[in-house]
Amino acid sequence: LFAGETDFLKGVVAMNGLPPDDRLEVCFAGRSNVGKSTLINALTGRKGLARASNTPGRTQEINFFTLAQSHYLVDLPGYGYANAPLAVVEKWQRLLKQYLSGRANLRRAFVLIDARHGIKSVDEEILKLLDTSAVTFQCVLTKADKVKAAERGKILDQVRAKLAKHPAAFPEIIQTSSEKGDGIATLRAVIAGLV
Ligand code: GTP
Ligand code: MG
Repeated sequence: LFAGETDFLKGVVAMNGLPPDDRLEVCFAGRSNVGKSTLINALTGRKGLARASNTPGRTQEINFFTLAQSHYLVDLPGYGYANAPLAVVEKWQRLLKQYLSGRANLRRAFVLIDARHGIKSVDEEILKLLDTSAVTFQCVLTKADKVKAAERGKILDQVRAKLAKHPAAFPEIIQTSSEKGDGIATLRAVIAGLV
């Protein structure tokens, strides 16, 4: 699947702008700056495909990428970002929640969690929404290169314990580093197996 072409399709700012739900898609959700856009670039092997930045709040639209002309990868705006006008933040958050609870062809939501920080209360809100919407989600730890092995084990235990309370959670946690390439092939295989 990832050997095929990937392209940017469109950025969506309102539910009526979503492309037709005639093919399966997976999306990447997570706190601002957790590494969603960078992970899409690592998965597709195209550095500038999704715009990434050190400034939280970089992705402000729902960005659709075509995968092998038969599927979509969806880059979502981050949540938990307070450093923008409240009205603007609320607009993204509303759209994000509408998308996560109302997209028929969404096969799985990958919820990205910073390997240094684990699951925070803002993440819990999204996980509950996914439970309620019955959207299967899977946690992906990002920036694994920034944590020592011992610390990583502790965070993994925390994440595992929290996921156990979410009916929509898929139990396997994928650890990644977009920087070093760890876990990227694993995640590609998981996505290919889903769609
Ligand atoms: P928003 O669009 O603001 O929600 O952020 P995002 O989740 O898309 O994050 P983005 O991909 O823009 O990455 C944020 C910052 O984290 C960038 O400076 C990336 O270079 C950095 N980053 C992402 N993944 C990794 C990683 O695996 N390791 C390291 N060391 N840095 C990473
Ligand atoms: Mg982004």
